[in-house]
Amino acid sequence: MKSARPLRLGVLASGSGSNLQALLDACRQGALHAQVAVVICNVAGARCLERARDANVPALLLSHRDFPSRETYDVELVAALEQHGVELVCLAGFMRIVTPTLLRAFPDRVLNIHPSLLPSFPGLHAVRQALDAGARISGCTVHFVDEGTDTGPVLIQAAVPVLDGDSEESLAARIHAQEHRCYVRAVELVAAGAVEWSERGGKKRARIAASAGLPRESIASLLWPPLAADEKGKT
Ligand code: GRF
Repeated sequence: MKSARPLRLGVLASGSGSNLQALLDACRQGALHAQVAVVICNVAGARCLERARDANVPALLLSHRDFPSRETYDVELVAALEQHGVELVCLAGFMRIVTPTLLRAFPDRVLNIHPSLLPSFPGLHAVRQALDAGARISGCTVHFVDEGTDTGPVLIQAAVPVLDGDSEESLAARIHAQEHRCYVRAVELVAAGAVEWSERGGKKRARIAASAGLPRESIASLLWPPLAADEKGKT
């Protein structure tokens, strides 16, 4: 189901842009049948802009300070994305709440990455929330964006154990490493046309099509902390 030409991505970021970098690298290496068509950032001097320029990708600074409302900002955002022929919008550390203006322009075509296993710990400081709650396992989620905060259909998740003695920084660093893998995989699934839609309990769901060739039978679960036997690799 792979389309002949690479899927055009618009990446929106506000900060470091390590997820952007993972996408850029995967596109460059041919691991992802996609192309970052534009990077848009709302914070002057953010590292993500530099990463885009280093990769010869158009980098646009669109400061929210120059707009009277979220809606007017998003009108401009949509215009820029459309101008660059974007087909899939990837929020990658974009510290803005997006409005229906963006979602209507790209229906089921906006992804976000969040540093927890949603629906646990939505919103800000997700890593701190997991630590404060005493969770043994956290992780990250790539989901489609809907009008709520971190409530949209989940596409892919990675589980990351919380270790005794973890600080917010150490746990965030391990989650970040998984984010990079997850985001590339999520975009790959969309690019391959492997996302199917269904509904459960009145809520939309993203399913991964059988054509993606994922194992359908049950696989071993992640138990954390592990049983002694697991630790010795005996299971
Ligand atoms: C990530 O932790 C992501 O989950 C969250 O913002 C952070 C962005 O990191 N939404 P980076 O800018 O991609 O390094």
